[in-house]
Amino acid sequence: MKAVETISDIRKIVNKAGKAGKKIGFVPTMGALHDGHISLIKKSVKDGNFTVVSIFVNPTQFGPNEDLQKYPRPLKADLKICKENKVDVVFIPTPEEMYGSGGLTWVNVEKLSQPLDGRFRPRHFRGVATVCAKLFNIVCPDTAYFGQKDAQQAAIIKRMVADLNFPLKITVCPTVRESTGLALSSRNRYLSADEKKDAVSIYNLLMKARALIKAGLSNPKTIIAEMRKIISNSNSLTGIDYISIVDLQTLEDVRRIKGKVLIAIAARFGSTRLIDNLIVDSGKH
Ligand code: PAJ
Repeated sequence: MKAVETISDIRKIVNKAGKAGKKIGFVPTMGALHDGHISLIKKSVKDGNFTVVSIFVNPTQFGPNEDLQKYPRPLKADLKICKENKVDVVFIPTPEEMYGSGGLTWVNVEKLSQPLDGRFRPRHFRGVATVCAKLFNIVCPDTAYFGQKDAQQAAIIKRMVADLNFPLKITVCPTVRESTGLALSSRNRYLSADEKKDAVSIYNLLMKARALIKAGLSNPKTIIAEMRKIISNSNSLTGIDYISIVDLQTLEDVRRIKGKVLIAIAARFGSTRLIDNLIVDSGKH
């Protein structure tokens, strides 16, 4: 496995693989790799791709009071994980390599970037879309792999690829969870033991919402009120940014539940902000 830091090096390697008839599979990450990231890598390898992983803690997607400085960067362990999982090449650019003295061009996927996390992280998705557009132009993948864990991000990237005619396919893979139900996240390592125990309530309330929808409830307000009751019992809960039931395509709140809906939540335990979501098919039309 190779690890390279420059755009010209990764371009050369990917170009050569393409000329040798290989399909390029790309897994963009910010590192601190866990089984969620690994599931994307495994899917790319299983699909028969020449697999490229990027590790880049992208400064433009962090707000001024967010955790850019303290974001974990266990590079050695990450490289070991990539190697063990048959990654062909890891791209680890510096911020200077990616942004030079600062870009003037931004990709803004309107509407989809505004609800849910967009309300609480105003420029976050502009940073995500821009860095993904740059990475797609650098790596030129046939397929890029994203996790359902970040449902809004996946929807935004899919839309960007369609709107800007990127010649690649986006594959969205299921959320990987601990046995408790807690979704894996690089930020889980910030949680104390007690906070981690409490954070499982996120999963429990998603399950409760699913049960209520399957039982025939169709008023989102009633379901969200039930969900709030469950999560409020957690001692280390320091805030709920949102609990929303939205349309899968527009990400806008639904007034009545029919077809498939996305239940999305962002909540803070201690000083750590966690997000999670679930797609539920109500079976109603
Ligand atoms: P990061 O948080 O490192 O996540 C990289 C990819 O792993 C994303 O597609 C994310 O949805 C997926 N992922 C994270 N946790 C997961 C889980 N528990 N199960 C399944 N997939 C999971 O998302 C980013 O980085 C950045 O925004 C990035 C796209 C790299 C742009 O900077």
